[in-house]
Amino acid sequence: MSEFNTVFLNGQWLPADQAQISVFDRGFLFGDGIYEVLPVYGHHLLRLDEHLSRLSNSLEEVGIRNPYSDNEWRELFCNLLLQNNAENCAIYLQVTRGSSGGRDHSIPTNIEPTVFACVNPLPILPEAVKENGVSAITREDIRWHRCHIKAITLLANVLLKEEGTAEGCNETLLVRDGKISEGASSNVFAVINGTLVTPPKGPELLPGITRDLVLELAEKQQGLSVEQRILSADELNNASEILITSSTRELYPVTNLDGQAVGSGKPGPVWQQLFAAYQAYKAQFQL
Ligand SMILES: Cc1ncc(COP(=O)(O)O)c(C=O)c1O
Repeated sequence: MSEFNTVFLNGQWLPADQAQISVFDRGFLFGDGIYEVLPVYGHHLLRLDEHLSRLSNSLEEVGIRNPYSDNEWRELFCNLLLQNNAENCAIYLQVTRGSSGGRDHSIPTNIEPTVFACVNPLPILPEAVKENGVSAITREDIRWHRCHIKAITLLANVLLKEEGTAEGCNETLLVRDGKISEGASSNVFAVINGTLVTPPKGPELLPGITRDLVLELAEKQQGLSVEQRILSADELNNASEILITSSTRELYPVTNLDGQAVGSGKPGPVWQQLFAAYQAYKAQFQL
């Protein structure tokens, strides 16, 4: 069990083992809901405005009423951290469409969203990842065409990720019509002829908050050549470096793809530069 035991459920603060939802909640029955994961460094919620904006977009896309204003969300998160005496952690937040007391595909009117939030520890980057990087496989992207929505309906992602895990890999990189979309739970970058390339935002991928921060650090702070453009699976196979990003893993180097070494087979210079820049960026909040 996590060291952080107090959760928020529909306006109440509860010990995790006493928080209960209806068996008719549409999140449980249909995966009808939205989520967010926000990393917290020190007491600073990283890119809070961006997370709130993505949350609001996701809710709007599926027609779930946003139950709180941005200020109310901010207050809720601060309370959650206080209640758990938490710092350097990840906030998990889920809003489902709620329960109408039965099971019907049709969306009922007058339904109250279910709001759940809890705190999880932030994983520590293993030394082995810094030294050697991680392995990944590629698979056909079998998901729906609205992957820009951060929906809790993650069965395809879970099964795709599991195919990677079964082969000892950290991530499964997804390919649609010969083009890389993203990872099962991350965004993807590749270094092609010295340029950092990542697929453009659109319905085939989640607009990752870490992706945007890494792009910003790479281009504006580190002066790297950066392109947001279609990245083909063939290009990925010949990339000198591959990186994956997410709020909890930050920035991982992929050094083996489908059983073949990527570049030198060790974390490369672009990853090292961006990893250092990311750590320095975080450090300003961890005084
Ligand atoms: C499918 C998918 N893409 C990308 C990401 C990265 O998004 P973020 O950087 O906002 O965590 C995630 C994070 O969980 C994800 O599940």
